[in-house]
Parts: sequence; structure tokens; C-alpha cells
Amino acid sequence: MSILLDFLKSVAGISETKPLDQGLWRLNGNMVTVKIDQVPELQRLGGAFCLTGNGLKEPILVVSDNEGSFHCFSNRCTHFGRKLDPVPGKPVLRCCSLNHSTFDYQGNNIKGPAKKPIRVYRTELKNGELFITI
Ligand code: FES
Repeated sequence: MSILLDFLKSVAGISETKPLDQGLWRLNGNMVTVKIDQVPELQRLGGAFCLTGNGLKEPILVVSDNEGSFHCFSNRCTHFGRKLDPVPGKPVLRCCSLNHSTFDYQGNNIKGPAKKPIRVYRTELKNGELFITI
């Protein structure tokens, strides 16, 4: 990606991570279930997608780490609420805004103007489905 395009996306607050087709996941009470074995984004290590709509109160970011484990977070930067993206090869998330607040996989803010951690959701993988407790 060119530096100019990266800069313009940051100004506009455009995230790199795409939303998952709503037919591949559902919300039931406080449990989100994702048909993880049907998600092409997660067939490669370091892949990610976001969940929005379907009755969710706040968007969720799902990331596959380099060991093949899944991590789920609130997809809102605690600075001004912009979306987050995984950083390839590193266990961190970066806000898509110009200020690029950065969070570790425990949700802690480690860089940038955000002062509060992001929410981390518990996950469990079972029979080809990912269960996210929100
Ligand atoms: S909204 Fe994330 S750093 Fe400002």
C-alpha cells in the first residue's frame, strides 16, 4: 500500500479488516457463535474479520494469531472509537485513525492517546465453531 493511500485511510478512519458475512455467525443472548471453519479470512495465520450488526451492541474484532489461536476484542478504540486492525506478525492491534493507538492482546493500551484498555472477550473453539462470550 502506498504511503499516501495509508495516510488518507488514516485520516478517514478506514479499517483494513472486513466484516464477516452475517450468515456465518449468530448472536444468542450473550454468546456469539461463528462457523469458523467456513471463514476464508482465518484459513491463514494472522487473519482477521469483524462482526457488526445481527443485534450486537458493539462491534467485535476476531484475530487468528501466528499459533492459530483466536482472540476477540471490542472493535472500538478507547480514544475516539475508531476501528482496530491487527498488525501482521505482532501480537498487537492498531487503531485505524491517524493517532494509531496500539493495544496488546490483553487489551492494554501500549501506545498512543487512548488511556483505557479495550475489552477482551473469552473464546472457545468447539466442533468447528468459535464461541465468544460477550
Ligand atoms: S480513535 Fe484511536 S487513537 Fe484516536
